[in-house]
Amino acid sequence: MSALEKINRENIPSHIAIIMDGNGRWAKKAGALRVFGHQQGVESVRAAVEGSVELGVKHLTLYAFSTENWNRPKLEVMALMKLLVNSITKEAPKLHKQNIRITAIGHLDQLPDDARKGLEKGIELTKDNTGLNLQLALSYSGKWDIAQAAKRLAERVAKGELSPEDINEDTFANHLSTAGQPDPELMIRTSGELRISNFLLWQLAYSELYITDKLWPEFGKEDFFEAIYSYQNRERRFGKTSEQVK
Ligand code: IPE
Ligand code: IPE
Ligand code: MG
Repeated sequence: MSALEKINRENIPSHIAIIMDGNGRWAKKAGALRVFGHQQGVESVRAAVEGSVELGVKHLTLYAFSTENWNRPKLEVMALMKLLVNSITKEAPKLHKQNIRITAIGHLDQLPDDARKGLEKGIELTKDNTGLNLQLALSYSGKWDIAQAAKRLAERVAKGELSPEDINEDTFANHLSTAGQPDPELMIRTSGELRISNFLLWQLAYSELYITDKLWPEFGKEDFFEAIYSYQNRERRFGKTSEQVK
């Protein structure tokens, strides 16, 4: 039975977050340059997007570039930025036709001008779409997200719009870059690394983690469905006992 057939359509995560890792190792195995792995990874993005649309996932957050990734060799960073502009420019009209909304979270000011402009065009073109929210985490850092939320809250308190007593988990979450979105029920990481790598630190507080040894360019739609099936077979207890949630 395929993973898709096993999936319970009544229990689809509303938000799935993915750390797309392993492009470099995949390229190395193929005897190619790292950039080739990143290019091949775009196919896996397509698969995850298609899978999300088929199942009615509302938000798909893809970790495409972390703030720490700026420390990679300059040529690789440039190649990644170029791939970003090219992919967005090429894919945006197709995504638009499918009612997909492109959004981005992260320190976008740090992106080179052409990458930022290409991204902004895609965001603008698709901004009124009501289907899948395809959210790219770019120059993203979970610590940055929390710090910028704290800064914005402090500014609002200084202006007298809010009082310190108003700051709680809900108001805080509303100042994160993911304001208004449900936290990811499922977080997938490819390439077997057992870490969060500064992804959505606050938002992943109670996410189910699915880590596979498959490298990102090898991760296809069937693997995406398999991750969702695995999620559906977890018991989410949120601190309660198993008896309480049964
Ligand atoms: C993930 O693949 C893509 C980005 C971080 C941009 P990597 O480039 O990290 O691949 P590995 O981990 O070196 O194999
Ligand atoms: C995490 O992958 C960032 C992205 C997938 C964009 P990395 O390859 O940068 O993570 P580390 O360095 O192995 O933790
Ligand atoms: Mg990596």
